[in-house]
Amino acid sequence: MTSQSGAGPTADSALQAEAKRNLWLHFTRMSAYADAEVPVIVRGSGQYVYDQHGKRYLDGLSGLFVSQIGHGNREVAEAAARQASELAYFPLWSYAHPRAVELATRLADLAPGDLNRVFFTTSGSEAVESAWKLAKQYFKQTGQPGRYKVISREIAYHGTSMGALAVTGLASIKYPFEPMTPGGVRVPNTNFYRAPEFVAADLAAFGRWAADEIERAIEREGPESVAAVYLEPVQNSGGCFPPPPGYFERVREICDRHGVLLVSDEVICAFGRLGYYFGSDRYGYQPDIITFAKGVTSGYAPLGGMIASDALMEPFSEGTATFLHGVTFAGHPVSCAVALANLDVFEKEDLLGNVRANEAAFRATLERLYDLPIVGDVRGAGYFYGIELVKDKATRETFNDDESERLLRGFLSHALFDAGLVCRTDDRGDPVVQLAPPLTCTQQHFDEMEQILRAVLTEAWTRI
Ligand SMILES: Cc1ncc(COP(=O)(O)O)c(C=O)c1O
Repeated sequence: MTSQSGAGPTADSALQAEAKRNLWLHFTRMSAYADAEVPVIVRGSGQYVYDQHGKRYLDGLSGLFVSQIGHGNREVAEAAARQASELAYFPLWSYAHPRAVELATRLADLAPGDLNRVFFTTSGSEAVESAWKLAKQYFKQTGQPGRYKVISREIAYHGTSMGALAVTGLASIKYPFEPMTPGGVRVPNTNFYRAPEFVAADLAAFGRWAADEIERAIEREGPESVAAVYLEPVQNSGGCFPPPPGYFERVREICDRHGVLLVSDEVICAFGRLGYYFGSDRYGYQPDIITFAKGVTSGYAPLGGMIASDALMEPFSEGTATFLHGVTFAGHPVSCAVALANLDVFEKEDLLGNVRANEAAFRATLERLYDLPIVGDVRGAGYFYGIELVKDKATRETFNDDESERLLRGFLSHALFDAGLVCRTDDRGDPVVQLAPPLTCTQQHFDEMEQILRAVLTEAWTRI
């Protein structure tokens, strides 16, 4: 089916009809748009995006934790165009191209310690999956063929492809696709707001307990069967759980004790989201592999990858050994050129400095919302925050499924968007609103977010 092209009301309504007829939105109840307009975002500029009617929205989620430098950057767009005319495509299967080499070197320089070997993918799920495959093959190659299991935290999201889904800790999005790839093992997450009572008064003790749960899982499963532990620096799903002090240090010790690899899944937390190039830098731990995607290009082209330690590469550097894995579009020349230009913007605009200078103000602005009865917890780090909504602040009682459905899906997500804010409402853990704005944001944007949230959350409370 085709339609007229060009701007104006006719083109707008044709686009709507076609969106409803032909486009399948991700993780979206399509029925919600049977009688409602599909939101169509047509352009972006700085911290804002605009819909097909010209209405402006503050992009409080950087699209999907992606647009670190903001929208409409001409230098990055032009870098893409230049690369497409010079060399639009060549694979990284047996060949290199200059932008992949330059980017790999730049990422190796930025990454902590001996993480020097960059394997590109096109997405975060592929990065997570690639790290698992590397761990499995590495152990086969080095005489420990029984190590295949991966440990990750409850509620943590690590992607949707079948391998990455097995690492993911969200039962609700796994169930339709069972049976899962074997080997996924869950441990508790670092949700201090809902910590077990015996450690609820002491953050450090909570952190020790949560880390020790990883050791218990390794021992229970049998260390000789465990390949890797996957952790995000700040866990996204469930609403931005920062690590308790000492957590990663202890996890590193546990992994070393049992010969298990530590994968830092930084698909969200790298590239300035926490004020550092890598979240592991912020929290001072040394992973064996970092997985990344999203912010590496600020979304001007798709790219992901993993950065592996020299030690992991070693068994693949001699004789006939080959890492038997690859993806056609991984390390696409245009994406690599974009990533390099994106990192230039980081340096030129000192985006890490901006996040570090302003993160306390961002937190303080969001914490003003504590005067609302529905706001139970404000948590996160850098430019990455979750606001947990509760029915009763004193008891921390959460909403039941019906209330959550009415509140989040029935009201909040639309109301926040209608009020001009792109953010995320999520009840895959307890109900939260999440914010992860472009790293260029300053106080005026924090205030705008707070004002919209205040109005909409106040209204939400009257509807419970
Ligand atoms: C921590 C983490 N890992 C992996 C992924 C999957 O990335 P992608 O959607 O690019 O496949 C995500 C996506 O949000 C993520 O947050």
